[in-house]
Amino acid sequence: MDSIEIVEVGPRDGLQNIATTVPTDIKIQLIHALADAGYKRMEIGSFVSPKAIPQMADMDEVVRGLRPMPGVMGMALVPNSKGARRAIDAGVMDLEMVISMSTSHNESNVGRPTEESITDLEYLLQDVDPDNKLFLRIGLATSFHCPFEGLTDDAVVLRNIERMLKFRPNLEFALSDTTGLASPDRVKSLATQALAQFGDDASFIFHGHDTAGFGLANVLACIDAGIRSFDASVAGLGGCPFAPGATGNIASEDLVYLMHRMGIQTGIDLEKLLDAGDIIEAVPGVFGTGHVRKLPRERALEYRAAA
Ligand code: COA
Ligand code: ZN
Repeated sequence: MDSIEIVEVGPRDGLQNIATTVPTDIKIQLIHALADAGYKRMEIGSFVSPKAIPQMADMDEVVRGLRPMPGVMGMALVPNSKGARRAIDAGVMDLEMVISMSTSHNESNVGRPTEESITDLEYLLQDVDPDNKLFLRIGLATSFHCPFEGLTDDAVVLRNIERMLKFRPNLEFALSDTTGLASPDRVKSLATQALAQFGDDASFIFHGHDTAGFGLANVLACIDAGIRSFDASVAGLGGCPFAPGATGNIASEDLVYLMHRMGIQTGIDLEKLLDAGDIIEAVPGVFGTGHVRKLPRERALEYRAAA
């Protein structure tokens, strides 16, 4: 293996948990800077209720303000088919629908039990998108651990994947460590089983948070299992406001740095990524995390000269 894909989720997962309202033009500037850093795929925001996530209230304006980004897939998270219709109306056809594997988190996050979200997904695929025009990934939140119910059983996740693939083959699934408490052995176990059972019909990506500091170890565990796509967030921002105690995503800078140090290509320019992080960190009330951001810039980049 000589490369992996990193999907930048900063403009969505990263921003949704920030109390200060990030101005629309800064969001747009951030997305453009991330595209310039080399991302081929990123989450640009979400079509959710502004009451639930006030930070995403300007989603339509953000989409309108974006310049064409050829070769970059800009995905939006949706909590339900209503959000998907809003996205389609805004011209966004690359979506992630979030469905938690534990019903308590689904109720807290999107206001209904997991079963209702699965029924709504079926409706979305069959009635809202009968001609298969959408790219759809399913964010399997709480795949490993739920803040209310504790550990998630692998069998529950695998059974739900099987059911969803009956609605439409070739979906992408994000095995999501929403609370950031999954350990690498568990992550590897679920990733291995998911690939063995559904790897021919579906694709899988790992979405990790770094609450317990296991984020990068979990990525390596996934690589061992055969996963090649990973979500990460610029400046390590992020967290689900409906998952108490969860902290930010795996920091993109740390993941890019680790991969490059291991000779694994990501297509991301670390210097430009660090510059993109500066844009969002300059907003008062925004505090980035991650290790590589704390290094002196020339130290973070010196490996490139040596490579
Ligand atoms: N975008 C905007 N508004 C939406 C919406 C969407 N995708 N889906 C529903 N609504 C509106 C409804 O029309 C209703 O509006 P009204 O009060 O004007 O009648 C209102 O939101 C409440 O809808 P309701 O169906 O009663 O559900 P709710 O209050 O339980 O909210 C969600 C459900 C899904 C809209 C809300 O929980 C949500 O947006 N969650 C997103 C959570 C999130 O982004 N988490 C982080 C990412 S994992
Ligand atoms: Zn997340």
